Amino acid sequence: MPEETPGDASPVLISIDEGVALVTLNRPSKLNALSAEVLETLFAEFVGLEENEDVHCIVITGSPSAKPPSFAAGADIEEMAEMGGFDLRHYSELGQQTFAAIEGSPKPVIAAINGFALGGGLELAMACHIRYAAEGAKMGQPEVTLGIIPGFGGTQRLRSLVGRGRALELLLTGESISAEYAHRLGLVNSTVPHGELMGVVMALAKKIAGNAPVAVQFILDAVCRGSEMSPQSALSLETDLFGLVGVTDDVREGMQAFLEKRRAAWKGR
Ligand code: COA
Repeated sequence: MPEETPGDASPVLISIDEGVALVTLNRPSKLNALSAEVLETLFAEFVGLEENEDVHCIVITGSPSAKPPSFAAGADIEEMAEMGGFDLRHYSELGQQTFAAIEGSPKPVIAAINGFALGGGLELAMACHIRYAAEGAKMGQPEVTLGIIPGFGGTQRLRSLVGRGRALELLLTGESISAEYAHRLGLVNSTVPHGELMGVVMALAKKIAGNAPVAVQFILDAVCRGSEMSPQSALSLETDLFGLVGVTDDVREGMQAFLEKRRAAWKGR
């Protein structure tokens, strides 16, 4: 049975089922805008999910009650409107710390973009390891139209995902793009009809959650940490992790299960 954090008023809901934690941004009346409270709660929840041995993959989505459908319509403009430079700097640090925890999570994180992913919403999606979007979802970095700039990592992650020229075009115009165009740019892995998004993403998450946990963690580490290294150092990291995975019980179990034509029973060590 899925478990839920107590209280529907929580800005972030968590349910866990078959090794997958579903994290739902829960501010539908504000199109799931990312207030400081949402960011702080997300950060705390990710620390908990990292330690939770029942969780092997994480999905983030926006409350389906938001009308129009929204993953997250940005950082909270109402909150930011009251902030001076010092507070905005602190807000940026909070967002960056939270999204760094997501990007650096040892468990794969999938964004299920079920509607608007604007500003901080797109920055959150870009901090995830895999992105699936509902057809009809809109994405963009409209900060420049508000007189600000992205502060939760958007200038860097968008550039690394779609290239400098395309990133600058989106950042400097503030225009939103369709899920289909985002797919063509490589900003999302796939687009799915709106009603099928959660089914498709949960099936993907459960498939990942069913694989050897240490191997999954090491693949994330090799790809994510490796992308910040020189090619030679990254290959060296891959070799080290390849050797390290070899001392786990699961490597014997995985190969034995293949030879015995049965499903592997992973221990996660
Ligand atoms: N921060 C705070 N509140 C937000 C928000 C945000 N980023 N985005 C939407 N909301 C709130 C609206 O203020 C409104 O609240 P209200 O009912 O109390 O007035 C509610 O969510 C619904 O939004 P609304 O603008 O009425 O919906 P819409 O269907 O007309 O437009 C959007 C939808 C997404 C196009 C529009 O809300 C929008 O442009 N949002 C801001 C996007 C943005 O600039 N994000 C980057 C922030 S850095």
